[in-house]
Amino acid sequence: MLAVKPQQPSSSAAVCSLQASLLTLAILTLVSFTYLSLKSLHSPSLQTSTPTPTAHTVQVSQPQVRSDDDGVDDDVYHLPKMFKLNYEEMESRFKVYIYPDGDPNTYYQTPRKLTGKYASEGYFFQNLRESKFVTDDPDQADLFFIPISCHKMRGKGISYENMTVIVQNYVESLLSKYPYWNGTLGADHFFVTCHDVGVRATEGLPFLVKNSIRVVCSPSYDVGFIPHKDVALPQVLQPFALPAGGNDVENRTTLGFWAGHRNSKIRVILARVWENDTELDISNNRINRATGHLVYQKRFYRTKFCICPGGSQVNSARIADSIHYGCIPVILSNYYDLPFNDILNWHKFSVILKEKDVYQLKQILKNKTQEEFVELHHNLVKVQKHFQWNSPPIKHDAFHMVMYELWLRHHVIKY
Ligand SMILES: *[C@@H]1O[C@H](CO)[C@@H](O)[C@H](O)[C@H]1NC(C)=O
Ligand SMILES: *[C@@H]1O[C@H](CO)[C@@H](O)[C@H](O)[C@H]1NC(C)=O
Ligand SMILES: *[C@@H]1O[C@H](CO)[C@@H](O)[C@H](O)[C@H]1NC(C)=O
Ligand SMILES: *[C@@H]1O[C@H](CO)[C@@H](O)[C@H](O)[C@H]1NC(C)=O
Ligand SMILES: *[C@@H]1O[C@H](CO)[C@@H](O)[C@H](O)[C@H]1NC(C)=O
Repeated sequence: MLAVKPQQPSSSAAVCSLQASLLTLAILTLVSFTYLSLKSLHSPSLQTSTPTPTAHTVQVSQPQVRSDDDGVDDDVYHLPKMFKLNYEEMESRFKVYIYPDGDPNTYYQTPRKLTGKYASEGYFFQNLRESKFVTDDPDQADLFFIPISCHKMRGKGISYENMTVIVQNYVESLLSKYPYWNGTLGADHFFVTCHDVGVRATEGLPFLVKNSIRVVCSPSYDVGFIPHKDVALPQVLQPFALPAGGNDVENRTTLGFWAGHRNSKIRVILARVWENDTELDISNNRINRATGHLVYQKRFYRTKFCICPGGSQVNSARIADSIHYGCIPVILSNYYDLPFNDILNWHKFSVILKEKDVYQLKQILKNKTQEEFVELHHNLVKVQKHFQWNSPPIKHDAFHMVMYELWLRHHVIKY
């Protein structure tokens, strides 16, 4: 199938695209202006560093923008002020229209479950309905949600091939029944899937892949993830077996920890290089229940750095586990679109390494001073709320962060 624009007289198409370009330009200008204004707020030294001929050099003190009761701590965000402003705007204005089609008893509208590896998908389906973001009026909508759950389809034993057909038929039925898709060629539409088959199941729909916002747990280039368009859904295995860790650095005596399946090249190397090390606790096998009650989870409490190597497919649940238990995640991957990485500064609460660094892993971690570790840990505790799903959803939780990412992507060009 080719990506063809709707038939239009060429002159009006040209006008449209000119208007679109101007609109884009206007938005970009506005955004960069806001960015610059905020930047200059943060670095007044720019104006004071070079002494001017006039004698009256005014000392401009750095504005102290600290955490207040809004729960946004400046240390972990790229642009805290911008985040606060835009987040409030999102809360008051963002509206999503959910297509009403599809039987909830099959795989539409409602989640499969709120537990297990793909719980994030279930939570999103449920949370959206529990939230105030839903509108029944498509004209009020900023974005349109295609409520088909691939995880639920899997639960019904549907094959991957059939899934592709079902997704295609469903989207095409929406496209012919309603005028909304054609207005933007799907650019203001989104779908959500945590299981990676969900990403593959959409391959029969080039526009869906190309234009729509894909909210997926599998944010690697393998699935054609486009960072400025798509949204990385944090994979969180809930409910957590044990309470959140934090402010417990004195109990963290193990340098590094990993236990899991060797289902990727980097995991095989990690296990081979470090399995017998006395400072890094690396087990080349998952810790099974027979070892003892919650042994796996308890190790997170005792460890400073938890290694998160890429696995075969969707495998960021370990990252969310590390965050929850207060163990600094060490991302060991050549490419990973970390959830919320355009909002949160991951370098403030994690260690991000390339796969080739696996051979120096111990030295890199030992190189971190206790102060550096304590600061990372301190910041990690601040972001825990962003990686937790709740029902009903609460401010700044995983659901709201995903909604915020969608809000950032909702400016679209109409065809
Ligand atoms: C796939 O669809 C075909 C045709 O509808 C059906 O006969 C078959 O049983 C389906 N297979 C699975 C695994 O769902
Ligand atoms: C949208 O466009 C498609 C393809 O051009 C067409 O089949 C469909 O009928 C259109 N939908 C509406 C509601 O006009
Ligand atoms: C440290 O570990 C001990 C023993 O497990 C526990 O009782 C204590 O609460 C922990 N300290 C903190 C700050 O979590
Ligand atoms: C680790 O120890 C086991 C058992 O002694 C041995 O078979 C294995 O080769 C060792 N691995 C490395 C990387 O030294
Ligand atoms: C550890 O730190 C030292 C000094 O800062 C640096 O020279 C060295 O390259 C670092 N080693 C690793 C493996 O990062």
